[in-house]
Amino acid sequence: MTPSLTIRFDPVAADRALRADARAGLSATPKTLPPVWFYDDLGSELFDQITRLEEYYPTRAERLLLETHARELVAACGATTLIELGAGTCTKTTVLLDAMAALGQLERYVAVDVAESTIVDATTALALRYPGAAIDAVVADFTDLDGLFPDVDHRLIAFLGGTVGNFDPAGRARFFTDLDAQLTTTDALLLGTDLVKDRTRLVAAYDDAQGVTAAFNRNVLAVLNRELGASFDPSAFTHVALFDEEHQWIEMRLRAERAMDVRVEALELDLHFEAGEELRTEISAKFTADGLAAELSKLGWLVDRQLDQPGGDFLLTLAHPYC
Ligand code: TRP
Repeated sequence: MTPSLTIRFDPVAADRALRADARAGLSATPKTLPPVWFYDDLGSELFDQITRLEEYYPTRAERLLLETHARELVAACGATTLIELGAGTCTKTTVLLDAMAALGQLERYVAVDVAESTIVDATTALALRYPGAAIDAVVADFTDLDGLFPDVDHRLIAFLGGTVGNFDPAGRARFFTDLDAQLTTTDALLLGTDLVKDRTRLVAAYDDAQGVTAAFNRNVLAVLNRELGASFDPSAFTHVALFDEEHQWIEMRLRAERAMDVRVEALELDLHFEAGEELRTEISAKFTADGLAAELSKLGWLVDRQLDQPGGDFLLTLAHPYC
């Protein structure tokens, strides 16, 4: 069966969203940009390289957890439809889909991501591997959940890779609340989150020796140059990764190495950077199992189980909406 490819993607709305985000973020003090704009084709390719770096332990740790517990998890929730938010290359997805197929409960997989060619390629391969299942690629920003999910019972929403940590706390609460509103008691959420740990390892995961993460971070400036006619010189910005102890999150920034003026033509916006000024491009919150369970419970979720390995690099949480 060829994949049924649903492209829920409105280029006019995407352009409007980029303009709004760039105008708000670059006019703010300090300057910020939301992480969704990292993921053009080059950004997605660089991120895929990050997931294979020695320093970037979360992908390996999460994969191991999934391999160990996939059967238990899909059996516990009885899911027949898997919906993955921010699916990317769908590399870890086969572990869940294999478990669903082995239990005879795989009907449908829906990959949601902003990176169009990345998920189209990935779902095309999955359609060959699971000929009996319906496979959908939905090109969409997962912060807009309205109408995103097929209207069936027993859906499992997978939100892996620590991506929920890329929301700020208010955005995260909004996301959990919006998601709860879309689901019913037969549905479940499988969340993959990174855990608080040794600071050196945490920071190294976002500042690798080869400079892949630095290239990924700077690429967002190239996206603005291309999409909005901006005049950033990406080579004049240094990649910075630090752990914010107060908020328990990694922060990625781009530091202007000299004073400079930047024009964003499509916004008729003139920016000034002081030498040493930093633009914040991403946060990645780190969790404790108890802290995350308390947060979900407060927002109306029933935490079914939490799984990690000895040493505790990463955490899987299975939760149900409480209706
Ligand atoms: N969700 C991933 C994380 O927070 C995203 C990510 C990993 C990332 N490494 C990155 C984003 C480096 C930007 C740069 O870990």
